[in-house]
Amino acid sequence: MTQYTRNSQMGDGDLLPDPIAQLAVWLDDAKDAGMLEPTAMALGTSVEGQPSVRIVLFKGFVEGDLTFYTNYEGRKGRELAANPRAAATFWWDRLERQVRIEGAVEKLPEALSREYFYRRPRESQLGALTSHQSEVVASREELDRRWEENAQRLAGSEVPFPSFWGGYRLVPASLEFWQGRRGRLHDRLRYTRVKNEWRVDRLEP
Ligand SMILES: Cc1cc2nc3c(=O)[nH]c(=O)nc-3n(C[C@H](O)[C@H](O)[C@H](O)COP(=O)(O)O)c2cc1C
Repeated sequence: MTQYTRNSQMGDGDLLPDPIAQLAVWLDDAKDAGMLEPTAMALGTSVEGQPSVRIVLFKGFVEGDLTFYTNYEGRKGRELAANPRAAATFWWDRLERQVRIEGAVEKLPEALSREYFYRRPRESQLGALTSHQSEVVASREELDRRWEENAQRLAGSEVPFPSFWGGYRLVPASLEFWQGRRGRLHDRLRYTRVKNEWRVDRLEP
């Protein structure tokens, strides 16, 4: 049984009063810890009582909201259109830390999505344009052929911005910081937005 002993303290006053600032600190710690994908988060969506979850990359804060980018017409896009609420979880094993976030989800303005799209490598732009995310595809060859067609057709010109692709912001209503501790008596501090203040509660492990 793994004992969590690396960061053995998370007292009531040890976290910042602003959970977004605290999350930024933990993200920096995760980047410094040399993890392969420190910004990877599990993103849960739900329609008609059936949750679904997948990993996406956190791509920074916009006015304190968490952003990520994806295809708007894939499964998560369709689920978010039907129920614009989500839950996200980071797990940083090297730090024995977890953060859980819940809240409403909104599409980012197209200008922001465009700006991010054109900051990505051309290969990724072509990938986003080519993929009908979450649809069944006949074979790998079929996918590669469509990518190759797009690459040739657009050689020497800008990849057109796909209207079905872009970012979302997750507006946190609650965030929970979890630090592994000895003997399974882990620390859990949950921030809940009450009007424009953050209320903090310690939860039993
Ligand atoms: C480490 C990692 C990072 C990923 N990042 C993204 C991402 O930022 N955006 C995205 O759409 N899919 C990302 N994916 C793929 C998703 O997990 C998922 O397969 C895809 O978005 C389709 O999900 P959906 O069918 O629920 O829409 C990532 C997967 C992994 C393992």
